Amino acid sequence: MIHIFNTASKIIISILFALLFTHCQYPIPMNNESIFAQYAKPDRKDHHSFANPSEAITKHLDLDIKLDFEKKILTGIAKYNILNNNATEMIFDTRSMTIDKVILDDNDETIFSLGANNELLGQPLKVTIKKTTTKVSIYYKTSPDAPALQWLDPQQTADKKHPFLFSQGQAILTRSWIPCQDSPGIRITYDAKVEVPKDLLPVMSAENPFEKNDHGVYTFKMKQAIPPYLIAIAVGDLSFGSIGEQCGIYAEPSVLESAVYEFADTEKMLHAAEKLYGPYLWDRYDIIVLPPSFPFGGMENPRLTFATPTIIAGDRSLTSLVAHELAHSWSGNLVTNATWNDFWLNEGFTVYFERRIMEALYGADYANMLAMLGFQDLEADVEHIGHSHADTHLKLDLKGRDADDGMTDIAYEKGAYFLMSLEAQIGREKFDLFIKDYFSKHRFQTLTTDEFIVYLKEHLIEKYHLETDIEAWIYGPGIPEDCPVVVSDKFSKINNIITNKIKKGQLKIDDASVWTTHEWLHFIRHLPQDLNPETMAELEKIYGFSKSGNAEILAAWFELSIINGHYVKIKSEIKSFLTQVGRRKFLTPLYTALKEEGDMAFAKEIYTDARENYHAVSVQTMDKLLEI
Ligand code: BES
Ligand code: ZN
Repeated sequence: MIHIFNTASKIIISILFALLFTHCQYPIPMNNESIFAQYAKPDRKDHHSFANPSEAITKHLDLDIKLDFEKKILTGIAKYNILNNNATEMIFDTRSMTIDKVILDDNDETIFSLGANNELLGQPLKVTIKKTTTKVSIYYKTSPDAPALQWLDPQQTADKKHPFLFSQGQAILTRSWIPCQDSPGIRITYDAKVEVPKDLLPVMSAENPFEKNDHGVYTFKMKQAIPPYLIAIAVGDLSFGSIGEQCGIYAEPSVLESAVYEFADTEKMLHAAEKLYGPYLWDRYDIIVLPPSFPFGGMENPRLTFATPTIIAGDRSLTSLVAHELAHSWSGNLVTNATWNDFWLNEGFTVYFERRIMEALYGADYANMLAMLGFQDLEADVEHIGHSHADTHLKLDLKGRDADDGMTDIAYEKGAYFLMSLEAQIGREKFDLFIKDYFSKHRFQTLTTDEFIVYLKEHLIEKYHLETDIEAWIYGPGIPEDCPVVVSDKFSKINNIITNKIKKGQLKIDDASVWTTHEWLHFIRHLPQDLNPETMAELEKIYGFSKSGNAEILAAWFELSIINGHYVKIKSEIKSFLTQVGRRKFLTPLYTALKEEGDMAFAKEIYTDARENYHAVSVQTMDKLLEI
């Protein structure tokens, strides 16, 4: 009996060990010492943060803030629970903010100093702590020009009745509204208490309210640990519309109905994503549609994607952006780039994943068109940056530079095409298992490119004896020779039409009425750059591009028009687009084209009126471009 029991218990114990071992291999359970040691590794050094995580690390944030829309100031207390490696000083990142006092644990006021301002990074906040300190509370005020925050007057919103505020944290702007260890390699959970004027509703990258209450004080909880660049807030006259069990839309009342229609497939995308790469670990997935000055297409703030209204085209044709931000719930938010040099790990995976979601919902043809448009963007960017320039490497070196400099199609498209090339070699089934496993094993962790390569070699390259030249893709310039080629029948037809009809002066195309947005974009992008004014005017007359309700089509047409001179006839349309929309992806090519075509006067005329409507992120880029 005893013998049987022993054998049985041995078997059970070994099964338990085996389970425990396979389960715990990744994430590797770490004691505090190795957590601190990890931050001391040179490859993990974040050159975009002043923080000293090898000495003291933020773990949880209790945020208590009050918003003053009149003064455009946020006043608050950021109370952190920290992990302390017997440190006597803890360093936080800040930018253009006032620090009133710092309290250790519950009531011990301490000494602090703000270091010199660095134009790119802001100011280090150095707080004297004790080796036993476990809590640090920072009392602070933001400045009206905190670059993460855009305070909008009612006039700048859709409904023009109430003010609006939104934040943009990525890459290193959160430090301008919350003093924090602002590095993607540091994860914290957070709770927040937010006080706003009673007629406004605040929402965050957290568990959110669905409607306003009558006292204007709201509480939030983000129980999963996230890097500070994903802490986000938006406040406005917001309504909520459900689009499924797990998904919904926040928008100003007049925008809500069209947004609910446009994003109706979101929950299907979520299910397709889960089927591909494992469970969605953030509970709800909602989208907030922001005013048009939002400087990006979308921002993957966890549980609540921030989106530009310029993707509401009326025909659901620009929703790959939703698939993209949703995909970040795995690539980026679950598995995060350790530093901004590893940005491609976030974006390259996300673009690949985005197209897989779109393929699952709308078929391979659709996804191939997206991939081809992406490849065109990649080629243009490589040309623009320079074929042999180090900025065309996937792994970047942004030390001493703006973290934003990495936001090119290298990270997005070269990254995605690298993954496509791996998929092409081993087949979809094996590749999908690899990606799914990669997400699951590294969930809630951060990775450097080198750590990813070690993993990739072990689990893919060596396992399946692949011959991919990882060096060329990751540490080499331009587009590697084994880059996959994607084709689309629909796009080939358009190429033929341009060659055989348009170039011969036959501008009316019979079946153009059934073209989708992506076909139109391919068409406009491939029109000869030097079309004469008469032809441009005729195309305008037939297809009404300048009156399109689709912002992507408008932007592509306006750019071509500027390049070939047609724009003088549609100046008011261009001006009105550029004054209403603040999305940097549209502003940059249009202002660049005006500059290159030598019409700085028109560029400046628009910019003078538009600048105050743009978010700091766009202003910074445009000021540089237009040398303001
Ligand atoms: N995370 C990015 C936006 C971002 C990147 C903001 C770096 C600040 C610094 C977001 O997921 C994104 O990639 N947005 C794209 C849309 C996407 C469909 C390519 C955009 O805004 O254009
Ligand atoms: Zn992205």
